Amino acid sequence: MPSPSLSEIQALAREPMGAVDRLIRDRLASDVVLINQVAEYIVGAGGKRLRPMLLLLAAGAAGGPAALDPRAHQLAAVVEFIHTATLLHDDVVDESDMRRGRRTANSVWGNAASVLVGDFLYSRSFQLMVELQRMEVMQILADTTNRIAEGEVLQLLHIRNPDTDEAAYLRVIERKTAVLFAAATRLGGLLADASEADCDALEAFGLDLGYAFQIADDVLDYAADADVLGKNLGDDLAEGKATLPLIHAIAHSDAATSARLRDIVSAGDVDALPEVVAAIRGTGGLDYSRARAEAYADRAEASLKGLPANPYTDALRGLARYAVNRDA
Ligand code: IPE
Ligand code: IPE
Ligand code: MG
Ligand code: MG
Repeated sequence: MPSPSLSEIQALAREPMGAVDRLIRDRLASDVVLINQVAEYIVGAGGKRLRPMLLLLAAGAAGGPAALDPRAHQLAAVVEFIHTATLLHDDVVDESDMRRGRRTANSVWGNAASVLVGDFLYSRSFQLMVELQRMEVMQILADTTNRIAEGEVLQLLHIRNPDTDEAAYLRVIERKTAVLFAAATRLGGLLADASEADCDALEAFGLDLGYAFQIADDVLDYAADADVLGKNLGDDLAEGKATLPLIHAIAHSDAATSARLRDIVSAGDVDALPEVVAAIRGTGGLDYSRARAEAYADRAEASLKGLPANPYTDALRGLARYAVNRDA
């Protein structure tokens, strides 16, 4: 049976996701006007809301009616707040101008406002989390946010470094991206009172899905339609970030091309984008990266085999496929 499509998955999660959305809106509020403006701006631009949906689907997959529990909605909102905070910070660090089809908050209000409202969203997420009064939940989210921060700093250390290899790249994306997916799916299991084995399986699923999702994102940075993606292409190159397609091209080009690519990374030379894309295509760097993303998605799916067979588990499978086949 083919996995359900994104729209089928969204239909399955529509009711609880509506509740999550209302919660996000309600709990965004502050009496500081600039906070409302910036937060409304980025939240109102939409986004795929993948991480809260994963939490709810994981709860459903584990067998509980937990997806309809208000506590699950609140925790799903927490995960989206954390994600949104990281985006505000990420666009400052990456000097990006486009996000979710709009100018980034940093390009509208400046870096200081983006960083500070990001901090507001982070701390608001902790307020929401503490209301749930579950030590295990706080433990998971404290560890996760700390690991994300480590991932972002680790990535900073690799900026403009042409020696960044696949192993180093994978260490960065595990922390900056995959751990939040893993936390979302584990928390879903936890709220459904799933067994330890099922919680572990859901966490393993989320982690591998997160790897697949970030590798696919890094392919899209070279190969998407910018209007559909809602972000500019070439952002990674512009800041001297060597992601998997380029790492592959550096390792598999002839000596002269490889040396040229290394110089481009060292300089963060976005004007060389056409040349880099040609070298990546010439070495099959996009197909290689897509295949690596597929392998992670396959492994994610394999983690689900012990979970109850139900529409939510099918939906998780569908999201693993979507993560690698998406165009936005
Ligand atoms: C963007 O995440 C950051 C990455 C981990 C690549 P999403 O692609 O989930 O962003 P939104 O929330 O849909 O805008
Ligand atoms: C994901 O990396 C960053 C976060 C986990 C916040 P990217 O820098 O590739 O994300 P985009 O492409 O800007 O969304
Ligand atoms: Mg970025
Ligand atoms: Mg990206």
